[in-house]
Formats: sequence, structure tokens, C-alpha cells
Amino acid sequence: MTDQHFPASKTTPMVGIIMGSDSDLSVMQAAADALKSFGIPCEMTVASAHRSPARAADYAATARERGLKTIIAGAGHAAHLAGVLAAHTTLPVIGVPIDSSCLKGWDALLATVQMPPGIPVATMAIGKSGARNAGIFAAQMIALADPDLSRKLDDFKDKMAEQVAEKARKIENAQ
Ligand code: RP5
Repeated sequence: MTDQHFPASKTTPMVGIIMGSDSDLSVMQAAADALKSFGIPCEMTVASAHRSPARAADYAATARERGLKTIIAGAGHAAHLAGVLAAHTTLPVIGVPIDSSCLKGWDALLATVQMPPGIPVATMAIGKSGARNAGIFAAQMIALADPDLSRKLDDFKDKMAEQVAEKARKIENAQ
């Protein structure tokens, strides 16, 4: 192990959000925002599977002892970050393919989702929607052992259904 520094926080983070570059932040912020809306503490940092492989490996290898329950990993291009993290931890890893290359995320999607048998990565949609879903999915996993959080997720689903009903009313009334 190398001597790496990862974020220090007053509340112990339950979810680690890690991205291949700071240029991924505008996408990955959606994961942090989703977690925040459910009151789940998270940390964010950068490590690259290709440019800083030791940092990425150390992040994953120390994640469980630092109290994390799951890791969300976002990367673009030949996105090996989520897979490399999954190789170094038994915590569940959620992958977010980022649309930062000229292939618009198809490359990152295939690199993230096509893991060999034995090393799963729960892969979300490409881009911001995927990052938001990664936050919600992490919340759903944590809610397995947290009834209060489970109720918050129920409320969240109810609110979405109400919003759809409201949109339907507006369209119907405009006819
Ligand atoms: C990937 O390369 C990163 O995840 C990012 O999406 C992409 C471009 O990185 P930068 O050149 O902007 O640092 O590793």
C-alpha cells in the first residue's frame, strides 16, 4: 500500500463517490445530491485507474475499514475505474459511465458493464441520470438495514408519482 490521503469528514461517510478526473464532477455531483436528499453522508474524491492506479487500489482496499458501505465510481473513455475498485474490495461497487469522450459514453458503458465473472459492478445509465440513480441505488442498499431511510425512499416514490399526476392534470386541462 502507498501512503494515500482520502477526504476527512466530521460525520463518517457511508458512501464513497470517486471519479476518474475533476472534469467528471458536474456529472457525479448528481450522485452526491441524491444521497444528500436522503440524509446519507458521503465523501468525494478523484482517482484514476490509469493515471493513479495505486491511489485507486488503496481507496478501495481501505474503504471498508473507513466505514464506507458502498462505492460509486464514475469515469469516462476506457473506464476501468469501477472494475479496478471492485477488484480491491468486497463492498458493492456502483459504476457510472461518463459521456466525456467522442464516443459519448458508449466506450465507458461497455468498459464498466462488461465485467468478467466474479467481479460484479452494478452499472447505471450513462451520464447525469446514471449518477443520480447511483445515489438512489446506494440509498436503497443502505435502507435494507435502516427502516427510517426505507420510509424516506417510499416518500420519494410517492412524490414522483404525485409529480406525474400533476403533469398529467396540466396536459389534460389544456385540451
Ligand atoms: C477519464 O478520462 C475521466 O474519468 C474523464 O471522464 C476523462 C477525461 O479526463 P480529463 O482529461 O478531463 O482529466 O479517465
